[in-house]
Amino acid sequence: MTTLQRPPVALPKNPLPRQQYTFFPTFADRPHPTRWEFPAYLDNPGCAWLQCLKEMYAMPIVFPASLSPEAGLMLHSLIRNMRPRVVVEVGSFLSVSTHWIAGALQANGDGGVVHCFDDFGPVHKGPWRDAEMLEGRLDWVKDRLTKAGLIDHVRFHPGDSSTQISASRDDLARDGGVDVAYLDGDHSVPGACKDLWAVEPVLNTGGYVLLHDTYPELCGSHDGPRHILDTVNVITRGCYEKCELNLSPLNYGMGLLRRIG
Ligand SMILES: C[S@@+](CC[C@H](N)C(=O)[O-])C[C@H]1O[C@@H](n2cnc3c(N)ncnc32)[C@H](O)[C@@H]1O
Repeated sequence: MTTLQRPPVALPKNPLPRQQYTFFPTFADRPHPTRWEFPAYLDNPGCAWLQCLKEMYAMPIVFPASLSPEAGLMLHSLIRNMRPRVVVEVGSFLSVSTHWIAGALQANGDGGVVHCFDDFGPVHKGPWRDAEMLEGRLDWVKDRLTKAGLIDHVRFHPGDSSTQISASRDDLARDGGVDVAYLDGDHSVPGACKDLWAVEPVLNTGGYVLLHDTYPELCGSHDGPRHILDTVNVITRGCYEKCELNLSPLNYGMGLLRRIG
């Protein structure tokens, strides 16, 4: 029997700076958009939650902090393909990402639930956002998800995310542990790490952590998700497989971790 031998290859120095990936477009290529474009192929009048998303994507307040439609579709597809039963979402904002997740859990048809951790505090005007919601965000989000027909798949945990996750750990464990944690809340290094360490004890082996906003240079210098992606295996002694999804600028980058130990 012959043994197949792999020819020696010159390995690149990793990681390459993102700018060196030639497929990576930059904002310099075109004017900065000021709103999301909802793709026509998702405009399905027969699907209540997609129609709700279409309405929300037309609201100035959801730009740019909510997931883009393309990134949302990717999140939706992951949840459809992984078929998790227990999902943790850290950072729901106006529930755009919640719709993408809960829509997938509903279609999966096996009773999956997304636990939403957010302070649901006031939304102020900011860069690229000339709109605000100073009060009533949690009620607004509940109304949206009810109208979308998704409310049965959603549980709300208002307050500081890491505190609330820690307080919910027994319940999450009783439900079988967390299969997917989508982290999109506090993007500072201490904040993002606190969220990860809060959910980690109840993250199932084989479970996933999806980090949004891994490009600090495009995300207001918030480098928590980037820090986790770069250091997780040093801190956890190799307990995670990881893959960076080098997305186009307005999708702000994602990192996917899978717990293997
Ligand atoms: C970038 S937005 C999330 C966007 C959302 N995932 C989407 O795609 O539609 C971040 C959210 O995290 C919340 N947040 C930030 N720090 C938090 C904390 N320490 N505890 C709870 N929520 C927090 C903010 O209020 C905001 O709603």
